[in-house]
Amino acid sequence: GAAVEVDIAALAPGQMTTVEWRGKPVWIVRRTAAMLAALGGHDAQLADPASAREQQPAYATNVQRSTRPEIFVVIGICTHLGCSPTAVPQGSAHPSVGGDWPGGFFCPCHGSTFDGAGRVFRNKPAPTNLEVPPHRYLSDTRLLIG
Ligand code: FES
Repeated sequence: GAAVEVDIAALAPGQMTTVEWRGKPVWIVRRTAAMLAALGGHDAQLADPASAREQQPAYATNVQRSTRPEIFVVIGICTHLGCSPTAVPQGSAHPSVGGDWPGGFFCPCHGSTFDGAGRVFRNKPAPTNLEVPPHRYLSDTRLLIG
């Protein structure tokens, strides 16, 4: 399918937007400094902290899983059976995340949880981290997915 160009200029810190690429939802999140800080310190609770299990672009294997730390681009489909996870911020009273929840995503189908970089966090059964699609920046505000 065709690549999708997205203007991210209006995406505010903490905001997420969804675009469609190859029939799949792709989330684009502008992470805040607090969201980035929350990615560290819980490696022991991650199924695959270095994103080594799946075929991923090399730029999706760092802690942030992105080329620009604040911008997170990821396919919004659970790697278990394909349900649609929802964003659950840090500090949320959501019943399915614990008090040490770093913020991220929750899949309502079978309870998988992912941190703010889409890494499987504590609650499985998702076998691999959320998939980062191929993407690059055409300028500071123009993102090309695909
Ligand atoms: Fe997401 Fe099963 S489809 S946990």
